[in-house]
Amino acid sequence: MSIKVMGVAAGRKNSNSEILLKEALIACEEAGAEVTMINLRDYNILDCTGCTSCTIGMSQGKNVGCVLDEKDDKKKIMDVLLNQDAVIYSVPTYDLMPTAEYLAFAQRSLSYETAFLETIGAIEHRDRVAGLISVGGSTRAWQSMALEGLQATMFTTDMKVVDMLLATQVPGPAQCLLHDDLIRRAHKLGENIMKAAMTPVEKRKWIGDEDMGWCPNCHSNALVLGEKQWDGLHYPIECQVCGAGGNLEKQKTENGNLSFRKMVC
Ligand SMILES: Cc1cc2nc3c(=O)[nH]c(=O)nc-3n(C[C@H](O)[C@H](O)[C@H](O)COP(=O)(O)O)c2cc1C
Repeated sequence: MSIKVMGVAAGRKNSNSEILLKEALIACEEAGAEVTMINLRDYNILDCTGCTSCTIGMSQGKNVGCVLDEKDDKKKIMDVLLNQDAVIYSVPTYDLMPTAEYLAFAQRSLSYETAFLETIGAIEHRDRVAGLISVGGSTRAWQSMALEGLQATMFTTDMKVVDMLLATQVPGPAQCLLHDDLIRRAHKLGENIMKAAMTPVEKRKWIGDEDMGWCPNCHSNALVLGEKQWDGLHYPIECQVCGAGGNLEKQKTENGNLSFRKMVC
């Protein structure tokens, strides 16, 4: 049975996030995957109302779904998405973070909270990998929460992120086509997704750029000063995405000054 990979874009039609996603999906198809792609702009996704009836149901051992299931397209998409081996998300950066359109889609996933649904026996465990692409008009400084924002939405549906691409300085429609390096990197992301999907689950690990990000666990670039947690645990530094705790390692630069290197957990 072939590996199933779905691409989810959230930007302008035929523009940067769609193009980079298609390039990644081409690599998946070349490696034998059955691929599907959607752009959230073609669907009607309502905002989570915050009623929490889904999680109240789960706490009573029932999978009651979402009160909006019949009112928009979220369930139709999730019925396909959760049947994949891998998902690649490609989302523009608006105001330093993923677009509201994507976030509305992701925040409707509470009724699909994998860990809860598995615990109550409503669904069977399935291992999936994910690749993330953030596309912005500016440099990383103006996309500071873009990939991190996408990463933060992966926990609910238990997606293991194995590669990420931050596509910078492509403000114009389809402008990424002028950057061969970006197209090549998107292709590589597709190859990496397939490599991960074909690797036994227990051996799957990060295969993106080795030195990406500060966090040695999830490769985010977002660290915060740690504070005492519920159970009293306290780390000097925490990753604000995955919560890994540790400290910063001091090192001497070539001119003898002190600087900080990676977080060590
Ligand atoms: C409302 C709005 C806010 C934006 N904010 C940012 C931003 O904070 N950082 C950035 O790098 N690009 C920003 N951009 C630029 C888009 O990320 C860029 O045009 C991107 O290529 C859009 O992707 P698409 O071509 O797939 O639609 C913004 C664009 C709009 C329309």
